[in-house]
Amino acid sequence: MISTIHVFNGPNLNLLGKREPEVYGHETLAMIEARLNASCKARGIGLDFRQTNIEGELVTWVQEAGLAGEPIILNAGAYSHTSIALHDAIKAARARVIEVHLSNIHARESFRHRSLISPVAQGVILGFGAASYDLALDALLSGRAAAEPAAKN
Ligand code: DQA
Repeated sequence: MISTIHVFNGPNLNLLGKREPEVYGHETLAMIEARLNASCKARGIGLDFRQTNIEGELVTWVQEAGLAGEPIILNAGAYSHTSIALHDAIKAARARVIEVHLSNIHARESFRHRSLISPVAQGVILGFGAASYDLALDALLSGRAAAEPAAKN
């Protein structure tokens, strides 16, 4: 039984709508939040939706949600490709994370092809624009995402 779903957004995602719309689309983060909020509200589930440009803040949020046993939808932005700290936080807090990206990172520059989050995420949804978030939420709300994290090494 899920009481709260966390959606954590990393660097530059506050610029959605203005930032490279040909890659990320025209929807703003506030628009995505409003839509997810409506979906959660309809099911009596709380939504905690946040954005930060600071890596350590994301680490702290992941720790807190993980220790509380609450699921996370995480778009760590560029930190997905660089942050061993986020990888470790997900693992240490036994956080259940669905990694999302608006863009298909595998169809872009080679430095985006590797995510340090993916090996410790329950699953990854990418390439569907803002709908990547809705699909991740649907996986959680529909019970299609298992309550226990997939095995991590
Ligand atoms: C992103 C992809 C990352 O490579 C990039 O640094 C972002 C956004 C996405 O949602 O497509 O900031 O996470």
